[in-house]
Amino acid sequence: MLEKLFRKKTRVSSGSLIERIANVKCRDIPAHVAIIMDGNGRWAKQRSLPRIAGHHEGMKTVRKITRIANELGIKVLTLYAFSTENWKRPKLEIDFLMKLPGEFLTTYLPELIEQNVKVEMIGNFDELPNHTKNSILKAMEETKGNNGLTLNFAMNYGSRLELVEAVKEIATLIADQSIKSDDINESLIESHLMTAHLTDPDLLIRTSGEVRLSNFMLWQLAYSEFSFTDVLWPDFDEKCMLNAIEEFQLRNRRFGSIEGEGKA
Ligand code: IPE
Ligand code: IPE
Ligand code: MG
Repeated sequence: MLEKLFRKKTRVSSGSLIERIANVKCRDIPAHVAIIMDGNGRWAKQRSLPRIAGHHEGMKTVRKITRIANELGIKVLTLYAFSTENWKRPKLEIDFLMKLPGEFLTTYLPELIEQNVKVEMIGNFDELPNHTKNSILKAMEETKGNNGLTLNFAMNYGSRLELVEAVKEIATLIADQSIKSDDINESLIESHLMTAHLTDPDLLIRTSGEVRLSNFMLWQLAYSEFSFTDVLWPDFDEKCMLNAIEEFQLRNRRFGSIEGEGKA
């Protein structure tokens, strides 16, 4: 208890970034961090800039957060970049958002390769414009042998769509008698999700003060820890990331069990 209080008091660290990183690394690092990167439009509006200026600035945050995630030893960083509902936005904004992976990856791919980062994507790939597909494919191809941080972009991703697709695949297996309905269990469903090869997020962060999931990883977030911050995505920096991880490290994950005996 005393130890807990002491840790609480030192939670919002005042040390340098390097000291904080070192301290955080001594404790339990979340293996998979997922982020709903929100608030780009409001960041731009506050500065009387067009919304796309906020998206452009947000790209720089992606770079910063990728670097620190890698440095901390996080295994997977999933970034919600475009939802299946974001097609409802004005065409000009969508066109810009579809060009961002190309710009991000052209600018930072050499750096990602150098840092041993592996680029992946979840979402409906087929519906993306060809130039977006090509940039993502190139980055995936050039980083596929890397075994540092997996930088997983959720692009044209929607959790309900993902679940619908999984149900369709399983229904086909039953129809062609490859499996029986009794064979359906959690691990079978998981194996048909776009995240089949990944562990569930340990920590979900959402920026910009919104406290909702917006159709993001509804199945996978069942036992994740949530961290919400008012900071807008373009302003989210290494310190904000460390705040979220330090907060995570103070949580007591029980997974339905009793204190101290929780297991993933
Ligand atoms: C997040 O910022 C980026 C995407 C959803 C693509 P927003 O564009 O949603 O910014 P706000 O929420 O309008 O401020
Ligand atoms: C969620 O943000 C999607 C992404 C961050 C890509 P939105 O800005 O689209 O979410 P809502 O509409 O406010 O719920
Ligand atoms: Mg938003």
